[in-house]
Amino acid sequence: MTGLNGKPPVITGGATGTDRAEARQGMDAPTAVLIGATGGLGHALARLLAAEGFRIVLAARREHDAAELTGRSDGSAIYLRADVTDPASLEKLAAAAFEHLGRVDAVVNLAGISPRKAIEDYTPADVDALLSVNVKGPIFVTQAFLPGLRKQAGGGVVVHLGGAMDGRVALPFMSAYAATRGALASYVQGANRELAGTDVVLSFFGPVPSNTESESPYFDMWRKMGVALCEPDVVAREILATIRQRRRAHIMGGGLLRMLTLANAVSPSAADAIGLRRFAKLIQQHHPR
Ligand SMILES: NC(=O)c1ccc[n+]([C@@H]2O[C@H](COP(=O)([O-])OP(=O)(O)OC[C@H]3O[C@@H](n4cnc5c(N)ncnc54)[C@H](OP(=O)(O)O)[C@@H]3O)[C@@H](O)[C@H]2O)c1
Repeated sequence: MTGLNGKPPVITGGATGTDRAEARQGMDAPTAVLIGATGGLGHALARLLAAEGFRIVLAARREHDAAELTGRSDGSAIYLRADVTDPASLEKLAAAAFEHLGRVDAVVNLAGISPRKAIEDYTPADVDALLSVNVKGPIFVTQAFLPGLRKQAGGGVVVHLGGAMDGRVALPFMSAYAATRGALASYVQGANRELAGTDVVLSFFGPVPSNTESESPYFDMWRKMGVALCEPDVVAREILATIRQRRRAHIMGGGLLRMLTLANAVSPSAADAIGLRRFAKLIQQHHPR
């Protein structure tokens, strides 16, 4: 059941709205699995994909209602519980998703945690949790879905949400957290090189600080740094573009963030001189405690 005549899937549709969604609820509708679908960004993405006519499997650890998350009660979405730290639970999720959807065009892994502390303050439990959710999680998600994605005509895309910028620009009072985002960036890069010549692509998606509950302890800090918070709907639209274009990396943000990312990749001290030193000083003054 490819619905796409054996050709790579072209996921189309620029307009939003229930008309479009209703017109595309058949088995040829694009499909997606969202893990971490109940958070600030996941919820916005669930609503957007539903409005765009996707059939969706939503997942996170705690029980939720698919209709409540998508705003639609037409059966276009189901909700299943899964934990990215538990490979067996992801195997079950992948099997259920391929069974229910027929094919999976996109997997979006939004499960992530971001404790921000001074170097000495990260506890062993913090470090274990960071590695389990932010590093092992994306590896286990990829492994669970890869066999099915390889098998189906046209492959698919697995989008992993990282931290801001390319995952390699590490800011102070985020050291252990930043280490996990750098690890994810390397994982995505290595896997994509291995998957070259196949129709399966992994994507590193770097959101900007957004107006979500999980980011709310840091709103004041971002404000003092002059960083405007992004609305979750805007992030969701950029994730959708990443799915459609199967981008290997998508870094949100304007010219300054892009320039800092590029400069940091070439020379971290050049990035410090351009602006990171100023960022670092401001974070130091307002750092999360
Ligand atoms: N919001 C921002 O400004 C921002 C900026 C940069 C990066 N990010 C990253 O983008 C991602 C999504 O952000 P968000 O603001 O939507 O986060 P959030 O509100 O904290 O939501 C996290 C989601 O992941 C689920 N989750 C957590 N641990 C899980 C696990 N072990 N297995 C399965 N699901 C799990 C949570 O539900 P359960 O607890 O029920 O499992 C929830 O659905 C995160 O990785 C975050 O670090 C966010």
